[in-house]
Amino acid sequence: MNAVLQPPPRSLSMLTENDFDEVMVIEQAIYDFPWTRGNFLDSLRAGYPAEVLRTPQDGVVGYFVAMFGVDEVHLLNLSVAPALQRRGHARYMLDALRSIARAHRASQLWLEVRISNLNARGLYERYGFRNVGLRRGYYPARGRAREDAVVMSLQIPEAVHGLG
Ligand SMILES: CC(C)(COP(=O)(O)OP(=O)(O)OC[C@H]1O[C@@H](n2cnc3c(N)ncnc32)[C@H](O)[C@@H]1OP(=O)(O)O)[C@@H](O)C(=O)NCCC(=O)NCCS
Repeated sequence: MNAVLQPPPRSLSMLTENDFDEVMVIEQAIYDFPWTRGNFLDSLRAGYPAEVLRTPQDGVVGYFVAMFGVDEVHLLNLSVAPALQRRGHARYMLDALRSIARAHRASQLWLEVRISNLNARGLYERYGFRNVGLRRGYYPARGRAREDAVVMSLQIPEAVHGLG
């Protein structure tokens, strides 16, 4: 009999200060220039949409923070624990963020990503984001003055009311 492998159940909830210890472990493991607790706290105080993704066996496996604009949602941070990448967690969080954007009646999602971050750029491109610009010297960088950011954007089609 073939065993059917089920993906682990995962759940998203609003990021709170109680999650910061687990979030900071991931943040410091994956970025050369990690956000500080203060950055996360400022985002919560500003009312930004911010969620953590958990599985029963691993606790916090990822998180995202975004910001509402007039007609858009700007993704500020999307992260997945190093040992738990390539399991669809980022795609799952992007689905949730897209739903938040649609509920906010935003017409697009946009973000900046380091030009050298081919993993993240691959994720966003596969998800449907398009390159729409370059910000020169946007990020601090090790051993170099600054690093460029690629600006990417995803159009959010309007929900068709009554059809779900
Ligand atoms: C980028 C990141 C969020 C992706 O998270 P993830 O949970 O591993 O991504 P997913 O499993 O949902 O990947 C979805 C798709 O994105 C692409 N992708 C993701 N990671 C990739 C990688 N390392 N190499 C190539 N493609 C990748 C693939 O197409 C993948 O689909 P597949 O696995 O079916 O081929 C994660 O690698 C991460 O946290 N990196 C460090 C932090 C970071 O760079 N954040 C983004 C800042 S803008």
